[in-house]
Amino acid sequence: MLMFMQELSGKVAVITGAGSGIGRALARRFAAEGMKVVLADRDEVKMRSVEAELAERGTEVLPVVCDTSLEDDVQALADATVERFGGAHVLCNNAGVVGKGDAWRSPMSSWEWVIGINLYGVIHGIRAFLPIMEDQGEGHIVNTASMAGLVAIPGAAPYNVAKSGVVALSEGLFLELAATGSLVKVSALCPGFVKTALMSDQLWTERLGADPGMPETPMGQMIDQVFRQGVEEGIDADEVATQVVDAIRAERFWILTHSEMRHLPVERMQRAERQENPA
Ligand SMILES: NC(=O)c1ccc[n+]([C@@H]2O[C@H](COP(=O)([O-])OP(=O)(O)OC[C@H]3O[C@@H](n4cnc5c(N)ncnc54)[C@H](O)[C@@H]3O)[C@@H](O)[C@H]2O)c1
Repeated sequence: MLMFMQELSGKVAVITGAGSGIGRALARRFAAEGMKVVLADRDEVKMRSVEAELAERGTEVLPVVCDTSLEDDVQALADATVERFGGAHVLCNNAGVVGKGDAWRSPMSSWEWVIGINLYGVIHGIRAFLPIMEDQGEGHIVNTASMAGLVAIPGAAPYNVAKSGVVALSEGLFLELAATGSLVKVSALCPGFVKTALMSDQLWTERLGADPGMPETPMGQMIDQVFRQGVEEGIDADEVATQVVDAIRAERFWILTHSEMRHLPVERMQRAERQENPA
């Protein structure tokens, strides 16, 4: 069988959320593979520091300020990529936020924010880049979901919904591409906890204000309790990037980075089969 993406050197990787955490680790890793790298982030300061680091090592880098929740921004990202590099071979739809607070008592803006970035951001990315990849006859789309897309984490309803949606649309896309004989590949990246800036309040405060009418409730505190310590003690983002590159080379759909967590979605479905309640 012909495997297209064995040789990454000279090809073009586009990464959203490239200014920090997993996105930054992916950018560094693709650069180390000799790829040209397009960085997209809504935080220009963080993105510029990654740009400087990669450019210093001789990587061809294009930084694009982009809010992935906005369709026009993502289309402009695709246009800028083609204009500068003539195509795009790897797309990592990675930008994401957790949100915070009580999903059932806080303003709807908290749902719109999380789903706008984590779910619509991925949809925008696929719609903008899939035609480019199909025209050039090769490409690999990596959608960052989460273990939260495979098992529900209490206290994080908008995040669970968005990440479940990313898993669902990625799996559907995989089957559609295979059924239509497309040469474009897709992967769903489902990490457990990774040590990044994911739980920083900075983005939340910038976007929704310091206090967007958020009631202090036990349910609202759950997200902090579950995520804060988990992320603090999470694996290194470089390890995630290594697994992503391996999956691209192997044309593998599932990237469940934490082997010790792979049994969780299996047990969930076993409970469903037995008609037992969630545990
Ligand atoms: N850290 C974890 O434990 C973990 C686990 C599973 C999945 N994930 C997912 O990994 C992805 C990356 O998160 P991370 O952990 O590296 O966090 P991070 O906060 O370190 O990095 C996220 C980056 O995305 C950028 N970003 C946020 N909103 C954006 C937008 N609208 N448009 C463009 N860029 C935007 C941020 O500026 C930041 O640079 C997210 O989708 C997250 O949900 C993280």
